[in-house]
Amino acid sequence: MTGKSALSIEGFVIVSAEGNLADAAGVMPDVLKFEGDQRFFANALDRAALIVHGRNSFEDQPNSPRRKRLVVTRQVPSLAPDLANPNAVLWNPAGASFDEARARAGIQVGMIAVIGGPEIFAMFFDRYDTFWLSEALHVRLPGGQPCFPGVPAQTPQQVLAAHGLAPAERIVLDAPHDVGVTPWRRTTA
Ligand SMILES: NC(=O)c1ccc[n+]([C@@H]2O[C@H](COP(=O)([O-])OP(=O)(O)OC[C@H]3O[C@@H](n4cnc5c(N)ncnc54)[C@H](OP(=O)(O)O)[C@@H]3O)[C@@H](O)[C@H]2O)c1
Repeated sequence: MTGKSALSIEGFVIVSAEGNLADAAGVMPDVLKFEGDQRFFANALDRAALIVHGRNSFEDQPNSPRRKRLVVTRQVPSLAPDLANPNAVLWNPAGASFDEARARAGIQVGMIAVIGGPEIFAMFFDRYDTFWLSEALHVRLPGGQPCFPGVPAQTPQQVLAAHGLAPAERIVLDAPHDVGVTPWRRTTA
């Protein structure tokens, strides 16, 4: 576990009916963007001390430039400054642990928000305190990119359950489009 009183780790994704986070071209399409979910996501990231994502992911919000972040990449051997963003640290998990990476970013306490893509979500499967799974049940992205390794052989829910997380009550974010978010919380120590 993550020294629960001081640090927490939360994951965030929105998926299509098939459990895809991007379309067949590997792009998150506009049909997967809903105002209610975007507002939920922006508010959640405003309470994060640190954002973690792969080199191709980003959250594209007004507060993004102010946020501290770890950008996961194989382009550096371990840890390096991101010359394009003074609030970012480039991190290769093959060369430095997560605790080393967050220490380099200066983060000792607070919420760590993991926002994808699939390999980055998987790195934290056994460490999430809460994973916020948003679903757009009417959106289909055939041939798209699954949100986690192991999907679609398993559903995203089965993957989260296999890692000790259990669903709490779904929160409706956009009723007409049937978009909601379910917090999956850790049940085992
Ligand atoms: N619907 C959603 O909520 C949601 C969430 C997240 C992403 N997305 C979308 O999904 C698409 C991104 O997919 P993606 O899989 O390319 O995402 P990504 O994880 O953001 O980026 C992949 C890159 O991250 C680095 N990386 C991944 N695993 C690594 C590892 N184990 N060690 C070191 N570096 C690693 C590599 O960077 P290098 O090539 O630099 O080595 C890799 O090319 C985008 O369209 C994004 O907008 C959607």
